[in-house]
Parts: sequence; C-alpha cells; structure tokens
Amino acid sequence: MELCLVMSEDEKEIYQARCHYTKAIVDGIQFELNEHAYVKAEEGQPDYIARIVEIFETVDKQLYFSAQWFFRAADTVIKSQAHLIDPQRVFYSEMKDDNPLNSIVSKVTIIQLPPDVDPAKKEKSLKLFDYYYDMQYSKPVTFTTLHTERVTPKSESPLVLEDMSSIGEVENNNKSVKSEGPTLTLLDLYAGCGAMSTGLCYGTGFSGVKLETKWAVDMNKHACESLKINHPETEVRNESAEDFFTMLKEWEKLCVEFGLIGMQRDEDPNANEESDSEEVDENKSEDDEEFEVGKFLAVCFGDPNKTGNKKLHFKVRWKGYSSKHDTWEPYDSLSECNCKEAIKEFVIKGYNSRMLPLRGDVDFICGGPPCQGISGHNRFRNYESPLEDEKNHQLVVYMDIIDFLKPKFVLMENVVDIIKFANGILGYHAVGRLVAMNYQTRLGIMAAGSYGVSQCRYRVFLWGASTMMNLPQFPLPTHEVVGKGVVPNEFKDCVLGSDNDESYKLEKNIFLGDAISDLPEVTNYNGADEMEYGGAPRTSFQKFIRMRKQGSSKKMILYDHRPLELNEDDYARVCLIPKFKGANFRNLAGVLVDEKDKVYWDTSVPKVKLPSGKQLVPNYCMTFVGGSSKKPFGRLGMDSVVKTVVGRAEPHNQALLHPNQDRVLTIRENARLQGFPDHYRLCGPVKERYLQVGNAVSFAVSTALGYTLARAIKGESTSKPLILPVKFPDCLGLSPMKEE
Ligand SMILES: C[S@@+](CC[C@H](N)C(=O)[O-])C[C@H]1O[C@@H](n2cnc3c(N)ncnc32)[C@H](O)[C@@H]1O
Repeated sequence: MELCLVMSEDEKEIYQARCHYTKAIVDGIQFELNEHAYVKAEEGQPDYIARIVEIFETVDKQLYFSAQWFFRAADTVIKSQAHLIDPQRVFYSEMKDDNPLNSIVSKVTIIQLPPDVDPAKKEKSLKLFDYYYDMQYSKPVTFTTLHTERVTPKSESPLVLEDMSSIGEVENNNKSVKSEGPTLTLLDLYAGCGAMSTGLCYGTGFSGVKLETKWAVDMNKHACESLKINHPETEVRNESAEDFFTMLKEWEKLCVEFGLIGMQRDEDPNANEESDSEEVDENKSEDDEEFEVGKFLAVCFGDPNKTGNKKLHFKVRWKGYSSKHDTWEPYDSLSECNCKEAIKEFVIKGYNSRMLPLRGDVDFICGGPPCQGISGHNRFRNYESPLEDEKNHQLVVYMDIIDFLKPKFVLMENVVDIIKFANGILGYHAVGRLVAMNYQTRLGIMAAGSYGVSQCRYRVFLWGASTMMNLPQFPLPTHEVVGKGVVPNEFKDCVLGSDNDESYKLEKNIFLGDAISDLPEVTNYNGADEMEYGGAPRTSFQKFIRMRKQGSSKKMILYDHRPLELNEDDYARVCLIPKFKGANFRNLAGVLVDEKDKVYWDTSVPKVKLPSGKQLVPNYCMTFVGGSSKKPFGRLGMDSVVKTVVGRAEPHNQALLHPNQDRVLTIRENARLQGFPDHYRLCGPVKERYLQVGNAVSFAVSTALGYTLARAIKGESTSKPLILPVKFPDCLGLSPMKEE
C-alpha cells in the first residue's frame, strides 16, 4: 500500500509528540479530514464505515487515523433483526478510536438527513450517496434524533411547548400541581386493569402535564370491568388487539366513506348526547316479527354471534324494543335494511367523540404485549424462530398498531426474558421495529422495589419518541432493592441504578409490614369484598396508599381484602405451618432435610394423614425443584420483601402465607405490594382479581415513568436518568388524590 501525507500546519504546533496531517493518499486515493471511508473488517465481514477525524504519525513513526464510527443496524443492538432497517441507513456514533492508516479500504459517501425530511427529497439524495444517517446510536440501547437546532414540535402538533412553559413545577410541600396546556391522549393496549396507564397519568399529572387514557383494549372481560369502574371516562374495548387493529382500519374506511376525515370535530361532549331512555312500545310482543333499526350503539370487528366468521358488526337497538333485545348485526347484512342514514349518524357521532382513534389522534401508546412463547412455564418454547411462534405474535401486532396510529410517544413493558430468550431476538425485534418506524428508542430495566414497593420485580421498558419529540429518560431508583435480577451482560448498563452513582441517596427498602400491617385481620373464609379499615395507618406508606381519589368525598372503604379461599386440606396444612418468616412444608411432621438441603421422607414414622385421608405433606412439595425448594406453603415475615407478585395465589409452589394469619395474602395485600392506591377497585371472580394485580405494572414504576415522560413533553432532553423529586407513594399526595 502506497501512502502519501500532507502535513497540517496548525496541528503540528499543538501536538509536538505526534505529527498531524490534513490529507493522506492511500493506494493512490487522497483522503481528507472529515471524509468517510470503508475500513477493513475481519475476514468475511463487511467493511466498517468511519469518518476520518484525525490523521497522524505516532512517536515511533507509525501512520494512524482517528475513526469516528458509523454503525450498520446489524452492529447495533438490532443485530439479527437488521433486515427491518433500510440497508442504506447507518447510525452515527460518538465512538472514536485510532487505527493504522493502511486499514482504510476506499471512499464511501454518507449524507446526514434531517429527522423530518420530505420522503421525495430523501429518495433523491439516496441515489447520490452510499449511505445516510439521521439518528445517533449510543450503547447499550439508545437511538436519538440528530438535531441541528433545539427541538420544538411543529406548530400544528397538539403538544405545544409554549403552552407548557407556563406549567408550574411540582410543589411537594403544599400538595398542589398546576396543570395547564392541552390534554394528551393515551391508548393503553393489553391494558389489564389499567395499572400502567393510570400510573403514567398520575406521574405526568404530578409534573403538570395532563394525560388521559382515552382508549383501552384488553380481551379479558373482568380486567375491562376493573378498568371501566376506575375510569368511567375511558373507552374500554373488550376485544383482542388483532381485532381492535382491524377495527381501526374499518373505522377509517367508514370515516372516509362519510367524508369525515379532516373535518373539524364537534368536541362538545353534549352535542351528540342522546337520551339513553328506551322507547319501548308496550304493544310489541315477543313473537312480533317486525324489526326496524332504532339506532346503533356500538361497532366491533369480530364474531360476537359465534358464527365462526369474523366481520364488522354493529350493535342495534331495535325500534320499540328494550335493551334486552339488542343484537349484533353484520355490516354487510345491514345494507339491505335501509339504515344507511342511521349508520352515518352513528359514525359522525363516533368521529366527534373519538370513539375510536384515527391516525394522528393518539399522542401516546403504552402496553405490555404478552409473549407467552418465552414464558419459563411453557415447555414448548420455540427457540429457533420465536417470532414465528403464535404465542409471541402480539409483539408484532403491538408494533403494527403503532405503525398505523403513529403516536408521538410509545412505552412498551415486558418481562426480562424478552432480552434473554433465544439470545434476545424478541428484544432486538422490538427495538428494530421502532427504529425502522423512525422512533427514537431507549431501553431500561427497572426493579419495582427500587421505586418504593415491597417486591423486587425486574421488568424491561422501551421508550419510543417520534423524531421531533424529546426521547423520555428513565427515572433513577429511590430505594434500595433486595434481590438481583438476572440480566444478560449486553444489557447490564440498562439496569437503572447499576452505575453505583452516589450522587443520589437511596432510602431503605420497603418491607411487607410497612405495606400491610394496618389491614384488619381476616380469615381464610372471609368472603367480604368491602369492609371498614378499623384502624389508622401505621406507616407513611399506608398513609399515602389510603388516599382518596381526587374529587371524591366519600369515606374510604377497604376493598378486595379477601384471600383466595383454600380448601379444607390446604387450610389444615397452613394452620400447621409455624408463625415465623421462612417456615414452610419442611416444618411439617414426617419431612427431613439432608446435608445438601434437600427434603426426604422420615421413614421411621408413618406418613401423617389429614381428616380427609389425604397426606399432610403432598408429594409435589417433596419433589418440587428436585426437593430443594422452600417455597411450598412458605410463610412470609413482616420484614420480607417479595420477589415478584404473580397472578396466582395458591400456596403450593410459592411463599405467600401471611406472617401471622392462617391464609394466603389477600388481593388487597398483593395490590399494596404492587403500589395500587387503595381506592383502585378490582372486578371479577377472586382468581381473576389476583391475576389482574399480578399482571400489572407496579404503580411505583408507572408513576415514575409518567414523571420522566412529562419532563420530555415539557421540552427537556437529558442524556442521563432523572432524579425523582418525590418518592412513591408520597407522590400520590401531590394530588390527584386527597388524604383520608
Ligand atoms: C401483563 S397484562 C397487562 C397489565 C397492564 N399493563 C397493567 O399494568 O395493569 C397483559 C394483558 O394482556 C391481555 N391480552 C393477552 N392477549 C391479548 C390479546 N391478543 N389482545 C388483547 N389483550 C390481550 C391479557 O388479558 C392481560 O390482561
């Protein structure tokens, strides 16, 4: 290789030990500073791409250049999912290092495109350049827009920063937060009982930004009932996310058909109000064959009549009939019944009230698409192609809905397995999809216990922000956390608080007793859904978690403080478990423990039987995790911190017995461990309520994330995680709740 160098006059003076150059000729080609070049990679790999930022000679006369690297998608955390990204797109990085000059292979042309570039202009410039970049990549998982100027959203955007500038900061002392500016709309997908979205709305509210869950979707009807009872203002849709997505497309078609798209909405909530009274014709009999459409009540895409055929359906109130005669009718059959006007009226009303969101209506989408195909409980996991596994399909549906609605902000939650299972492919896919859709993206791993609740619970969160918005940060922990999550090395730095930075002080962790010691004693057989507290709060946590909802003057009632009722045999077993932390089935008669801490039967005594004739110690306790587990019928202590609240309450393979009562933790006690405010009610059978609580995003985490979202909305973009101004649950005292 032939090298020819042109010396830099300025640099020569600054760097005495090394000689700097402004140009170099490598293999007959001249390279200047700030030009781009391919740099030799390992055998069989595509050459690297760099900007030449320095050319110099070392003291021992070696010729070098400083490279500022660009990443191809495959070299970022998107890895195997790089096919999602345009092959001409690379990512700017601030990673720099020195390399021998002769590792330069050839020239390459790269152009920086502005984040909001016109697609036609983009296409034109792409023909003239080898690559383009519009985002910066920072390890481990951050993609951000490269701005030349300060970010200010477009004037037509509903997020108008000028409006936000007048927002008062959080005032901890006088419990008031001034909220001004427009209300931002949130769509909660896979909403469960709504813990994630409710916490996000509280968190933004504490920081003076109004966010409202306008729509929520979940296929579980009990979870939907819970959401509705706590949020009467939300359009709760009890359907699958897939059907909701098809419905969105059908709704858009209907709005196009009736010429509504782009029309000013009549936002007056009473403008379309119709009396809900039923105009029942007393003379109509059950056998009367005459049915005429009165009005339409709802619309869905699905198979409400269980015919085996999914279609667009309208819910009809028949003229002269009561609501008990309402039926779902397929849209295609309605065309024959001369009711186009009534459909049009319904669609106009729905358009005005935003019954369903159209593109541009949603400011923020949050949700945790279930990926049951990666669950440790699933023996048939598809390691080879997890994305083709039907059980992981919701990740794709979630991203497709984002692609369709194009919200300004996105937040996805998932279990840590999403970045562990099958080498993290689902995590790479989620990041790849967001970046491919031009969302800035940041991944964080948060332990709920680090934010003020009495459980460990590690979860992965992925922020997305459209190019003209500020990408939200993650909140720094406020509390010490007990227990460690297992996170792949590649993502270790994504764990919030992993930096061991001592500039923020952590409070001691919250124990089970701090969360539940004020709750009245109940037995295994308590079937009451409501009761009196019967005493004052004993800890600061209890004081704040008991706060009333804003606007409510009702006396607080204790809801859902009832346990899963154990059958006679299990109850008899539980009564025999001693009342100390860590006691479990090993403390029952007939069980011995060997030197390897594994259980075996005491064969010197006959197996103890219960009055029912069943064994006192079931065989499954002895064989669970090869006899090494202490979880079956495990008792907690008031100084315990639970690992993770799950959706089941059976004591057979988990430690969830109350410290000094003979029962499992109640629904409300689990809810307290998750940080649910006491006023948040749950609906459905007992097991369903446990499930909703166990499935939820901890309120401590969702409120903290709401706070960081508000900071981004208010125009702050920071490269480091944020310190929360108030810890959980004290932040619940900043309004929108009132002290009991
Ligand atoms: C982890 S939970 C969500 C919890 C919720 N984010 C919260 O904080 O309360 C997942 C939810 O997804 C719902 N779900 C599962 N598959 C679904 C699908 N295909 N469409 C809609 N909802 C689904 C389940 O019913 C469950 O409530």
